[in-house]
Amino acid sequence: MANVIVIGAQWGDEGKGKITDLLSRSADIVVRYQGGNNAGHTVVVGDRTFKLHLIPSGILYPKTECIIASGTVIDPQVLLEEVDRLTELGVSTANLFIAQTAHVTMPYHRVLDRAAEDQRAEHKIGTTGRGIGPTYADKSERTGIRMIDLMDQARMPKKLRWAIEQKNIILEKLYNLEPLDADAIIAEYQGYAERLRPHVIDASLKIDEAIRERRNILFEGAQGTLLDLDHGTYPYVTSSNPVAGGACIGAGVGPTCIDRVIGVAKAYTTRVGEGPFPTELHDAIGAQIGDRGAEFGTTTGRKRRCGWFDGVIGRYAVRINGLDCLAVTKLDVLDDLAEIKVCTAYELDGKVVRDFPSDARAFARAVPIYETLSGWQRSTSECKTVEDLPSEAKTYLKFLSDLMEIPIAIISLGASRGQTIIVEDPIHGPKRGLLRS
Ligand code: IMP
Ligand code: MG
Repeated sequence: MANVIVIGAQWGDEGKGKITDLLSRSADIVVRYQGGNNAGHTVVVGDRTFKLHLIPSGILYPKTECIIASGTVIDPQVLLEEVDRLTELGVSTANLFIAQTAHVTMPYHRVLDRAAEDQRAEHKIGTTGRGIGPTYADKSERTGIRMIDLMDQARMPKKLRWAIEQKNIILEKLYNLEPLDADAIIAEYQGYAERLRPHVIDASLKIDEAIRERRNILFEGAQGTLLDLDHGTYPYVTSSNPVAGGACIGAGVGPTCIDRVIGVAKAYTTRVGEGPFPTELHDAIGAQIGDRGAEFGTTTGRKRRCGWFDGVIGRYAVRINGLDCLAVTKLDVLDDLAEIKVCTAYELDGKVVRDFPSDARAFARAVPIYETLSGWQRSTSECKTVEDLPSEAKTYLKFLSDLMEIPIAIISLGASRGQTIIVEDPIHGPKRGLLRS
């Protein structure tokens, strides 16, 4: 294979889980590099379906090693629930590794996440309430608890007690909430530490060994480009870097190790949580897309907002991530529509704008300029090759590809592994030829 990054090209939930699963077959190692249990993907094992938030779905392949790297934040309770669930299903987690430098989500992070959202009132971000933002805030503030701290039996109680006492001041004085019980939390986390100990390693070192041995590594992004802390629709973003560059920082590898970057985008757009979304549909078509696409969040069950494909965002994702190619998912969701619109530019304060406006307030004023294409109004879910697709569907995909100036390597037409068309090899096919050779 090679060392490949897979990222979400929109606001998350693009179907990265399915594409990662597809590519995991040829990967020796899958590395999750940012985010925490705000992410979620649905996994089907035989006739049982369940949801993973932290463990890469690569764990389902017996020989694949899975690493939850340094750039992630880990809620040990959630992680151990996933381990237990996999064990029940007969899936071994012996190949699960956790970076000792990853930060740990604590009970106070969850409480503070929700308290801060309540206080933001009409300015709320619509977080998943899992404590992700407060965990990263402590990381930046240099007061975080890392896996390596949990592993230090002698120092851990003191460190946790200090952190809990600090947060209790904030909970009581700022939010008027009950303080947390330090002894109970310390005991709880001591239990987690002992269970996690066999998995905790120097992840960057392990990844480097794999690179030297020419093993194939898949770096799996969570969330999506527009939720990136630096390059997304700030402040309506998550608190980590889902973009391709985040893989190097989060995993602890240099950019020279990366061979390919693959973007995943839905054939339309969705978003959960608050924040501007120019192509959002508030009509029956939006509802129809949501129903057909089963657009409900994996983590919170919230209904996702739905809209047309946004080519401005698409081009932005190509630029920010340096995408080599694209996987387009859920094309079948558009099967019934007579007409399909694609946003090619925005009208912003009387001007035509083709580049993503990085100011969220300007972005909120952007009015999409649409190109209308004919729908195909026939089922695509059984199509096995590009030739099988209705001509209108081919035209639609070509339009997206031309708009974004990027090849479409994979087309997904349903949840199952078989409902996938590989147009060209996403890993060994053509690279985005912008760099000097
Ligand atoms: P947080 O990551 O929980 O702080 O939430 C910040 C924003 O990111 C909210 O709009 C969430 O809905 C969104 N978000 C976080 N994780 C995901 C995800 O995995 N898919 C889609 N949206 C997400
Ligand atoms: Mg998801």
